[in-house]
Amino acid sequence: MMKIRKLFSVFIVLAFLSPVASHAAKSTEELPNIPWGFQKVFSTYDRPALQRGFQVYKEVCAGCHGLDKVAYRNLSGLGYNPDEIKAIAAEYTVIDGPNDEGEMFERAAVPADRFVSPFPNDNAARASNGGALPPDLSLIIKARTNGPNYLFGLLTGYAEEAPAGEELLDGQYWNKYFPGHKISMAPPLSDGLITYSDGTEATVEMATRDVVEFLAWASEPTMEARKQMGVKVLLFLFFLSVLLYIVKRRVWRDVH
Ligand code: HEC
Repeated sequence: MMKIRKLFSVFIVLAFLSPVASHAAKSTEELPNIPWGFQKVFSTYDRPALQRGFQVYKEVCAGCHGLDKVAYRNLSGLGYNPDEIKAIAAEYTVIDGPNDEGEMFERAAVPADRFVSPFPNDNAARASNGGALPPDLSLIIKARTNGPNYLFGLLTGYAEEAPAGEELLDGQYWNKYFPGHKISMAPPLSDGLITYSDGTEATVEMATRDVVEFLAWASEPTMEARKQMGVKVLLFLFFLSVLLYIVKRRVWRDVH
């Protein structure tokens, strides 16, 4: 009996601890609720939005945030062909080596390289950002509760100034959705900051939607394959059930 009681109390303690353990992006504000296409049961990513989102990442976010789980060759998932990917990779420089003389050397990136990070290490990143570390964005959508809506809120939820009674330090900004509200990232987007190559008007909301779509893809590039496999498995199970039913009727025909 004692044992059961002890077990029970351990369970209760764990139940209270678990929300602390998970990094939930909690703030007092209710998050926006956007009906993201890619979250629907059978849907895929929107290719034009992915390409626009990549442009937003590349031209704005990549100045501070890395994407080190994604390789340039993965961009084929956005609809780019091998030549386009080679050209995109070649815009970046990676440090490779050591060569025969034992020296590290610089070379142009190739499709097999991961996205080049904007800073050589975390200390350099902090030093350039007033002590705050811009996190790698590869898995950010999965790392935050209700990731797509949180990110949408974060990027569109800046206030002009802090509410009365709140002090912001130098380099801090008031954000409706950031936990604690004081964020050390200046509002990265503004209307018309980007000129989309497909002619879409780049309002803050549009650029945010697109970059969220792109980062959702980055965090799960295999989502479409997973959904297709799910459909195939369901179809298979359906036909198997029909087949088993027919066989069962045959086998038991003489008994009934
Ligand atoms: C000038 C540098 C800079 C640029 C450009 C920038 N960020 Fe940031 N970002 C930061 C810093 C610094 C932090 C850390 C803020 C903090 O901890 O207070 C941050 C934090 C974040 C976070 C984490 C918030 C959290 O919940 O912890 C996300 C998500 C993010 N940025 C997304 C983006 C996106 C998307 C873009 C491009 C549209 C972008 N950032 C552009 C510097 C930047």
